[in-house]
Amino acid sequence: MSTKKHLIAPSVLAADFARLSEQIEMVNGSEADWFHLDVMDGRFVPNITFGMFIVEAIGRLAKKPLDVHLMILEPEKYIEQFRKAGAEVITVHAEACPHLHRTIHQIKETGAKAGVALNPHTPVSVLEDIIEDIDLVCIMSVNPGFGGQKFIYQSLPKTRKLKELIIASNSAALIEIDGGVGLHNAESLLQAGADVLVAGNSVFGAKDPLAAIHALKAFEARFDF
Ligand code: DX5
Ligand code: ZN
Repeated sequence: MSTKKHLIAPSVLAADFARLSEQIEMVNGSEADWFHLDVMDGRFVPNITFGMFIVEAIGRLAKKPLDVHLMILEPEKYIEQFRKAGAEVITVHAEACPHLHRTIHQIKETGAKAGVALNPHTPVSVLEDIIEDIDLVCIMSVNPGFGGQKFIYQSLPKTRKLKELIIASNSAALIEIDGGVGLHNAESLLQAGADVLVAGNSVFGAKDPLAAIHALKAFEARFDF
């Protein structure tokens, strides 16, 4: 039996953009570990958010690593630009990458950590032959496109399955859970093997966001991996 400390990545999508610098300062002064930034193109997902220009602006204020989640088609066209904008983790969707192996290595060549996100319908098995090359797997626990959605319960056994694959293949990949994460499911997710919890509304929608981050960070997962 062992314990490990997980990371908390507040999703800026749920922040008040009219008070963005204030909200970034709040995260800077909190126990959170990363900033999770959701880039959407209105094509891969039915919503449009922001691009590298805003990522770069956030990066100038942020004192913690930028975890950039690309929900876009043809992400390979923009990887260098997001790296230049300050991304430390760049996550692409398996569903958007016909040449995922090449794209992962393109990310790593920029010096960023390479992440792969899986939509709720995409099985963990698509990563079997590539898992050793990946730094992070993002399990989408909602259909990507919007914050504030309900956690899809099958994401929990999916997390366990991914953890088994990571252990069996001696991979160092972190497991990130994105969508509908909060105090109600954080502990079970950590127990299932999650390393990074993305939290949008459960942080920025809380009365006391600092306390919400503290509470998410305080869980102890005990496991026998
Ligand atoms: C959804 C995004 C998530 C979202 C999470 O497409 O990838 O990062 O902001 O927000 P919550 O935690 O509110 O579900
Ligand atoms: Zn995200």
